[in-house]
Amino acid sequence: MSQPPARPEPVERAPANIPRHVAIIMDGNGRWAKQRGLPRIEGHRRGVETVRTTTFAARDLGVKVLTLYAFSVENWKRPQDEVGGLMTLLEFYLKKELKTFIRDRVRLLTIGRTEELPASVQELLRETIAATKDFHDYTLVLALNYGARTEVIDAAQAYAAAVADGREKLNDRSWETFSRYLYTAELPEPDLVIRTSGESRISNFLLLQAAYAEFVFSPVLWPDFTKDDLAAAIADYAKRERRYGLTSEQLKPPAGVSVSA
Ligand code: IPE
Ligand code: IPE
Ligand code: MG
Repeated sequence: MSQPPARPEPVERAPANIPRHVAIIMDGNGRWAKQRGLPRIEGHRRGVETVRTTTFAARDLGVKVLTLYAFSVENWKRPQDEVGGLMTLLEFYLKKELKTFIRDRVRLLTIGRTEELPASVQELLRETIAATKDFHDYTLVLALNYGARTEVIDAAQAYAAAVADGREKLNDRSWETFSRYLYTAELPEPDLVIRTSGESRISNFLLLQAAYAEFVFSPVLWPDFTKDDLAAAIADYAKRERRYGLTSEQLKPPAGVSVSA
């Protein structure tokens, strides 16, 4: 009997149907408010409610890591009162959620240059991260003062420092090594990236980590985004074949070989 064709090295993949890591570009708060004749900050306030419901909806649906893009490095350029309002909302949110995170065993992490956030926010982040560090079943990652380009600069700088003092080799040139210097070092790569509000762009979010992510662009404005919308995005994801550069045939087991879960 002839040997089955050689199969490529297995690529680490998430379970077929449920994305392990979902990352969301929460967009549309301003338009939601404008449609109602309300100030933009009211849209952000409602957006925080959606953050709460989505955190638990994602876990109910079997997601292990949820990353939410809450504030980009470019968002500092918005009007000062909006930036100030967003920082105040973030403070309120963190103060209120600490107990809930502990009760529901949610680990909080951040990605981004959090050292440039207001001191009061930094302090709350430190406290919440420390209080939830031993929870491992479900992780909420807030992208705060995050930009993929600044992330690459920070990673390159840390990598260069490691080379200079002999912890890394300059000629290593492997993604596995370099990616340990990204903010996301301890996280799996996102499987599914969702953007709300009908915009189809990535806006400097997880550019490297999303190299093989699936994308869903939802027309729903973030304050209106529900568990059903999240479930629909996950259902869409589940229908897709992630090929990681291989052919469809390579991903299927050779005839006669049964694959156990
Ligand atoms: C997303 O909503 C929240 C943040 C970027 C902080 P926007 O504020 O971008 O809402 P739109 O895009 O103006 O509707
Ligand atoms: C991306 O949304 C940033 C966050 C969701 C935090 P923006 O509304 O800032 O992005 P652009 O300006 O439309 O690309
Ligand atoms: Mg926007």
